[in-house]
Amino acid sequence: MPMATPMILDCDPGHDDALAILLAASHPAIDLLAITTVAGNQTMEKCTINARRICSAAGITDVPIAKGAAEPLLGTLHIGEYVHGVSGLDGPEWGEPTVGVSSESAVELIVRLLREHPEPITLVPVGPLTNIALVLKSHPELKPKIREIVLMGGSTERGNDTPYAEFNIKVDPEAADIVFRSGVQVTMVGLNVTHQALAVPEVLERLSGLGTRMGDLCVELLTFFSASYLRTWGFTSPPLHDAVAVARVIDPTLVECIPVPVVIETMGRFTSGATCVDLHHLTGEPDNALVAMKLDAPRFWDLMIEAVSTYE
Ligand code: RIB
Ligand code: CA
Repeated sequence: MPMATPMILDCDPGHDDALAILLAASHPAIDLLAITTVAGNQTMEKCTINARRICSAAGITDVPIAKGAAEPLLGTLHIGEYVHGVSGLDGPEWGEPTVGVSSESAVELIVRLLREHPEPITLVPVGPLTNIALVLKSHPELKPKIREIVLMGGSTERGNDTPYAEFNIKVDPEAADIVFRSGVQVTMVGLNVTHQALAVPEVLERLSGLGTRMGDLCVELLTFFSASYLRTWGFTSPPLHDAVAVARVIDPTLVECIPVPVVIETMGRFTSGATCVDLHHLTGEPDNALVAMKLDAPRFWDLMIEAVSTYE
């Protein structure tokens, strides 16, 4: 068994973030060092409570949770309440979380771990990139300690929050620009691939068939998420975006990627937040990212459901 990959999950729970946490915390190929939160699907405070809620429900008690940015680098915060609900994790009835929050901020915790950990760390941001951009700008000397950044965001095609911008990038385009220009190895897992990870009724049946509290909790989460996706985008089943980025870290063969130039639109009146992916190398720009193009969906869902089955 190869050594586990040291990893930090930066997230905005969020229904798909919640299942990404379950996958990252349970798989032996990942050494989950920390969970950090960022404003996106809901306010940072609500996303932090939600990270504590899912960790409490799952019994994930050994992974520090640290609060991150409450707003984007520039501009005003725009949240995804229309998808994830008022709490940011609507659907289940949640008790009071028993898992606490770190006294360090997200940036302080990420910086400390990058400094102290003996090996380079994989950063997996699955919300707006504000925290990651702050780390890169405030401590560029730590870039060699970042193994790679595997992010859920962007798209080689159209957007979801606006016609041309995916939500995570749209919330903080300047942060995304900093990340993609950083020189750190970036893998972009965008909507063009995460829309191949649809939680179809068969997936919900398999989760329900586990006969566990966690299996049932995931069904509740995905049922709410499904209604949001049907109402907003006409999807009959919701895409489990964030877990695909984690799956790429666990088993890169699950997600086929190609090296291409990617630049972030930060000035567009109608296109701000667009990821301009030069698939045919028309611009002559250098490749600065690996971009995910294809998911092995059946193996992805086997991995996801196996992960949920490890919880009670
Ligand atoms: O566009 C999908 C992304 O936005 C996912 O990370 C989802 O959790 C929301 O943050
Ligand atoms: Ca997210």
